Amino acid sequence: MSRAARLSKRTAAVVRVVGHVLEQQWLPLEAAWERECHLQRYTGLDRSLLRDVCSGTLRHLTYYERLIDYIEPRVSRVASLRLLAASTLYQAEHMERAPTLAALCRAAADCCPEPKARLLLDDVCHRIAALPDSERKTILCPASELSLPQWLYSRLRAQGPLLNYAHLLLERPDFLTLCVPPEYCSTREYVKRLREAGWDASPSHLAPHGVQVHSRPRDVGSLPGIAERRVHVQDTVQQLGASLLSPLAPGDRVLDACAAPGGKTRALLSYQPHATVVALELDTRKATALAADMAARSPRVTVLCGDALEPTTWHEHNGRPFAAILLDAPCSATGLLRTLPEVKAHQTEMTVRASAAKQLGLLKALWPLLAPGGELVYSTCSILSEENEHVVDAFLKHARDASPLPLEQLLSRTAQRPPSPAASRPPSKTTLASRASPPASFVQRRGMGLAFFPSTDHQGGFLAHLRKSTRSRGGGVHKRLFCNTPRRSSPPRHFVTDRPSGSRVRGAGASAVDDSRLRNAACRLEGA
Ligand SMILES: C[S@@+](CC[C@H](N)C(=O)[O-])C[C@H]1O[C@@H](n2cnc3c(N)ncnc32)[C@H](O)[C@@H]1O
Repeated sequence: MSRAARLSKRTAAVVRVVGHVLEQQWLPLEAAWERECHLQRYTGLDRSLLRDVCSGTLRHLTYYERLIDYIEPRVSRVASLRLLAASTLYQAEHMERAPTLAALCRAAADCCPEPKARLLLDDVCHRIAALPDSERKTILCPASELSLPQWLYSRLRAQGPLLNYAHLLLERPDFLTLCVPPEYCSTREYVKRLREAGWDASPSHLAPHGVQVHSRPRDVGSLPGIAERRVHVQDTVQQLGASLLSPLAPGDRVLDACAAPGGKTRALLSYQPHATVVALELDTRKATALAADMAARSPRVTVLCGDALEPTTWHEHNGRPFAAILLDAPCSATGLLRTLPEVKAHQTEMTVRASAAKQLGLLKALWPLLAPGGELVYSTCSILSEENEHVVDAFLKHARDASPLPLEQLLSRTAQRPPSPAASRPPSKTTLASRASPPASFVQRRGMGLAFFPSTDHQGGFLAHLRKSTRSRGGGVHKRLFCNTPRRSSPPRHFVTDRPSGSRVRGAGASAVDDSRLRNAACRLEGA
């Protein structure tokens, strides 16, 4: 296939993939891209190029849409044409070693059946490409200049530090963080191995088991321990939640309340080498995949499929409370805009409000399951106060036996952080957004928690660490919960999966495993 034909094929694929993501509210870009690669048999470089163009187009979409709407409203009336123009401009202005604008326009024209549309497309792309920065600024509003929807821009701006990190949101992170369990090897030893193999890497200053690779490898699977699933990719902020919990004793149980795809479960296994982990997940498909994954990893995990908002359906009445709970709540994922640009298309003010209500509901529902003196870590991948400190503040008003634990130690670790190689790199030459020097680690105290804003070291997110009073009535609260909650008339959902190698996944009550109190467990996983 000629280069031009390849380019036309890729251009058409970008419009299909991004178009699906925009049309289907919760369709992740990764899923749409994987499906396209499967159908078109994309492999190797074609695969990764398609992904880069799709995610870059989504990251810069609001920016180019605004320019297109202003310059040529006739293009704006046809969604696929507007998307073609946006993707063409993104590639021409942001991709390294991109074909010329003329070649990109020809490829885009191949995707237009109508000659008039082809001319319009070519014209709008060339006119926008010729616009100097100063003229673009007069057309763009502050939100579209950062390629953010207006509602999201307004919220982030009102919270304060947006301009310090906004320019980062337009680029894929060029670092990678790994979680290296100490039983595999120390972070120092791992860094040594990476350096010997030619990778620039250093131990994370924030996460005790974290290793930062300062440039993104094309083939992550080639890094030591990844293919054997001993080491896994996990952002620093995502690792921190598990690292905050005090060490648990053998026999103690920790609940990973919203567990799939299992990043925190793996981190809990690494940071809590003695405890057993109960990993709860609402979504049957995800719980099944998690069970299969954990079967290959550790016999210390029990995977349950159930609703954390309704503990009566999966937790034993009067059951033994958990020594610790990690609630990694479902959220807007606004802290991950760089790697999940579809968040900008899917989330709205309403979905964020619904998330916040659910997050508070989850805290309230799970708190009674925590033992007196036990600890709960609340985490999100959101950078919106509404899903973070506001939720925790509202919860603390409700639960008088809950008190926040100090996070100063964590804050001081971020202050000691020397600038990373990435921090000293100049920003992309085509980035129009604020060019404030990128922070290596950008953390702020927010209410009773810590907000991590996107930086050259980590993604965004939030953490709060709470402790239950030792004088709390514990079991009493637990009893109250169950007395007040009407029994559901419908039985809990059960599911049975194929037997994953080395483990058994069973429907509820199929057999007693290590914890008989976990009644109505929809799925149990035993290490064989
Ligand atoms: C932010 S993700 C968790 C990521 C995970 N902790 C990790 O580190 O890989 C939230 C997960 O919670 C699940 N979830 C949403 N509502 C839930 C509920 N009511 N009970 C249990 N799980 C829920 C979602 O299906 C999703 O898999």
